Amino acid sequence: MKEIRHIPVLLNEVLDIFDAIQKTKPDKHIVLVDCTLGMGGHSSKLYEKLKKGTLVSLDLDLKSIQYCINTYNFDSSSMPISDGKNTFTIWKKIDEEKSWIIVHARFSQIESVLNILGFYGYDLLLADLGFSNFQIKKTQRGLSFDSKGNLSMNLSDSVDNKLRNLLKNKLLIRGVLQRYTDLPDHTIKRVVNNIANYQSELNTNVDLIKAINLPKYIVRKVFVAFRIYSNDEEFELNTLINFISRQKSGVSLIITFSNFESSLVEQGNYRFGIIEPNIKEILENDQARSAKLYKIYSSESE
Ligand SMILES: C[S@@+](CC[C@H](N)C(=O)[O-])C[C@H]1O[C@@H](n2cnc3c(N)ncnc32)[C@H](O)[C@@H]1O
Repeated sequence: MKEIRHIPVLLNEVLDIFDAIQKTKPDKHIVLVDCTLGMGGHSSKLYEKLKKGTLVSLDLDLKSIQYCINTYNFDSSSMPISDGKNTFTIWKKIDEEKSWIIVHARFSQIESVLNILGFYGYDLLLADLGFSNFQIKKTQRGLSFDSKGNLSMNLSDSVDNKLRNLLKNKLLIRGVLQRYTDLPDHTIKRVVNNIANYQSELNTNVDLIKAINLPKYIVRKVFVAFRIYSNDEEFELNTLINFISRQKSGVSLIITFSNFESSLVEQGNYRFGIIEPNIKEILENDQARSAKLYKIYSSESE
């Protein structure tokens, strides 16, 4: 099997921030949360650095979780955790003074997950938005226009027809593009009409590219908007931002890749700073091109 790589974006910056936090709390049981496990790029490096504490990593995609369980030598047996209302599946790995817990959950559920695990705050939380190379190359969900897949754009394996239904509704396509892209109205109109007037069946993402029939930079923005819509990403991110806004301590890091994601993060009720990738990283990793790291301070963090 050809090895799939996902280069974690802004990894050094994330690790430097974690180092600084860990240094100020030498004896504390550190609580680290990674809301977007993916291929474990950030999580595994954070775990390597963690001296004493717990890393909780979430993903909604079971295939990505399975990949991490195999890659990072977890015991393959899972167990359920529940508060009576919500039940989640977890996998655990323990090494001397630290442990790593992987949870199959959405980041909008982070508060329940942490409470069930007995954590009522965290030292560092990370959310690296979007999808991983693994999902592009291994799941055929049509997420990227670089590899052929089904017309789904779903980040998980759940089967729904949200995208297919969207593509049948001109008014809805227009609304989604107006909300989730910065494309001018006349371009949005062309995208809507091109999709509506397409004469063949729409079964794959390649069919959708043919239907849109516009330059690549426009197709890219349309794909991002359709993915955000298909996965309720606005709700997911807003719920996370609301949770972060209520934290009294701890630092939160959110890596965004689109203007829409950035604008939501900037509306949170907190102070933040922005770190951008350096030129070297941008040259080495195309995915870093549009990335921004938001460092969010809680009311009692510096
Ligand atoms: C950009 S990737 C993370 C890559 C990871 N940082 C790494 O270095 O390997 C984003 C991951 O977040 C997951 N994800 C996206 N939205 C999510 C949500 N609302 N809840 C949980 N996981 C989510 C995706 O399934 C994907 O695996």
